[in-house]
Amino acid sequence: MAKNKKIVFANQKGGVGKSTLCILFANYLAYKKQDVCIIDTDLQKTIAGQRTKDLQIFEENDMPYEVQEFDVQDPKMMKQLMDSASEVDGYVLFDSPGNVGEDGLVPMFVNADAIIIPYEYEDKCLDSTGTFVQVLTAIQQKFPQMKADLFFVPNKIDTRIGTSDEIKMWKATDDIFSKFGRVTPRVGSRATLKRINTAELLATQRDAVAAAFDYIIKKA
Ligand SMILES: Nc1ncnc2c1ncn2[C@@H]1O[C@H](COP(=O)(O)OP(=O)(O)OP(=O)(O)O)[C@@H](O)[C@H]1O
Ligand SMILES: [Mg+2]
Repeated sequence: MAKNKKIVFANQKGGVGKSTLCILFANYLAYKKQDVCIIDTDLQKTIAGQRTKDLQIFEENDMPYEVQEFDVQDPKMMKQLMDSASEVDGYVLFDSPGNVGEDGLVPMFVNADAIIIPYEYEDKCLDSTGTFVQVLTAIQQKFPQMKADLFFVPNKIDTRIGTSDEIKMWKATDDIFSKFGRVTPRVGSRATLKRINTAELLATQRDAVAAAFDYIIKKA
């Protein structure tokens, strides 16, 4: 059996790029000839909705991976989902909603191999991301079998800005997150990353995420 990896994209902060990076990571793994599928556990169904749109343009046969919807209800159903995900060959990616305190989500974090946490260098986002890390730490204390590696992905970085004070702040932030997991190479704010779909990965998109994703693939 190919190695099984359950990877959750999460942060209670909205709009940081969970769904975007989840789709891009699936596209990137498919491009690398890895087995991958996505389970969309967000009520907004961002990814499942994107797949529906893509099916109006592309053929079903052209789809590089499956997208499945899952409605989060109770922990028992989530545990069953994680157990069946463990039987799958390759990577199973989970896009998650922002309401991370919900009981039904706990087994997703407890049984994940890796949790990918996109964040932006912006006060409110850093506060929420910090709180989210505390939530994960509390879950870990309650469920010591939790073994997920945390990957912090600085996302939507505008490299044209960055005064020396800002650059200091970015570095200080990364140092704090490094105590809880690994900080990946940064993903820039790029127009091409706003035009993603679940069928194909453009070369410009690949270039934008390759450093961060190669790092995760190597370490996860
Ligand atoms: N690196 C990037 N460059 C440019 N735009 C980006 C980038 N990452 C995300 N975005 C844009 O930011 C917005 C929010 O992204 P996305 O929906 O992936 O966030 P999310 O964390 O899944 O949000 P939610 O909490 O609502 O589920 C989208 O419009 C997306 O196109
Ligand atoms: Mg989302």
